[in-house]
Amino acid sequence: MSKKTIIVKKKIKSFNKKIFVPGDKSLSIRWVLFSSLANGLSKGKNLLMSEDVIAAIDAIKKLGIKVKIKKNETKIYGKGINGYKYKKNITIDAKNSGTLGRLLLGLIIDTPYPIKLVGDKSLSKRDFKRVSDPLSKFGAKFELSKKKNLPLKIFGSTKLKPINYIESKGSAQCKSSVIFGAMKTNGTTNIKAKKSRNHTELLCKYLGLPVYIKNKKTYDQIKVNKVTNLKSLNYDIPSDISSSAFFIVLTAVVKNSKITIKNVNINPSRIGVITILKKMGVKITFKNQKTYKGEKKADIEVKSTKKIKSINCPSKLNSSAIDEFLVIFLVAAKAKGVSYFKGLSELNQKESPRLKWAKKILNKMGVKTITTNDSIKIYGNPNLSINKTIIIKNFLKDHRIFMTSIIAALAFGGKWIIHDKDSINTSFPNFLKIIKNLESR
Ligand code: S3P
Repeated sequence: MSKKTIIVKKKIKSFNKKIFVPGDKSLSIRWVLFSSLANGLSKGKNLLMSEDVIAAIDAIKKLGIKVKIKKNETKIYGKGINGYKYKKNITIDAKNSGTLGRLLLGLIIDTPYPIKLVGDKSLSKRDFKRVSDPLSKFGAKFELSKKKNLPLKIFGSTKLKPINYIESKGSAQCKSSVIFGAMKTNGTTNIKAKKSRNHTELLCKYLGLPVYIKNKKTYDQIKVNKVTNLKSLNYDIPSDISSSAFFIVLTAVVKNSKITIKNVNINPSRIGVITILKKMGVKITFKNQKTYKGEKKADIEVKSTKKIKSINCPSKLNSSAIDEFLVIFLVAAKAKGVSYFKGLSELNQKESPRLKWAKKILNKMGVKTITTNDSIKIYGNPNLSINKTIIIKNFLKDHRIFMTSIIAALAFGGKWIIHDKDSINTSFPNFLKIIKNLESR
């Protein structure tokens, strides 16, 4: 058996713990990118030290920005919005990170030399046309593999023109990439964006950049003018709600358990998982709520729930829970009745085709599902208990497939053989250590 395979043979016993999960991934990557454009030294604390974020740090280093990493403090020495200095023919590796790959393209839209962008096997299967299309309208040019994939080459322009852009997928990566492109472009870019996580906009607002937002019911109207000056940004990154979600779910489905997860980012555009689970009857409370540099944070307290209700999940919650559906489906598997989730075609655009994988895993668990390209019906069983061997492999090293499988094994039993443990390094390197802590008396 490879060292990279984890075997889980026992359900977890009841627990009552306080835990910390690492810094938020979306905020960590954005802090790195914004700081790389700032004038002078930015200091980051509790930065997520995972492969995606390290790839972001390596990317700005390639662009000529100095970075110093100490134990719990990262220093980025920005040289201003036009401060990138690099050789001809560089290649940047976004590894597994869609956020890094897509946001970075906005920042290098004015590159004087072509830059090659590559990624790992999973990222190379994902759609980059969704950002190269709008960025081309500004005046940059692209050569994409198979017209939509990595590796790609970007040819920047010095004569960028502002654009009108409609973002209709609810993708924060597309929206943010265009905001970055617009920050480098003379004139006003207008974006009409379906609701999605708004960390980029909140950071722009906190930094006093010429970015103006009108929040409408189902979309946001965003105007972006050229940025000439960015002040440095000291930031203490709150914990990641997406990483917290694994423990929220585990606590909900394991008898007589309780958990407090400290200092978590609870930006309203990220807490779909909380809204959905509360609708299903899970007991979740926010304690000690605070606002930090425009972002909300709190301690999250969760108690196990005896009677989980099925849900017909409103699709308006999809974007705010997009990274959490795999674990949410585990709760649906234990609910009384049939749950229905729809409008989820974006789930198949992630690190792996996650809607397809959800079906596969649930069926292996003995849970009946009916799926289409963008929906899933899950036939819940409040007494769900597994007595067989389940093997999870060849999932494109999708970190969230690995962690969801571990949670399912600990919650519902059976013998699980789960491959590619290293996948957790993408977003949550100490995931298994926290599990061990929950298991310790
Ligand atoms: C992210 C946006 C989401 C999300 C991803 C992180 C971000 O992707 O799935 O994990 O930080 O902007 P999309 O924008 O493609 O929906």
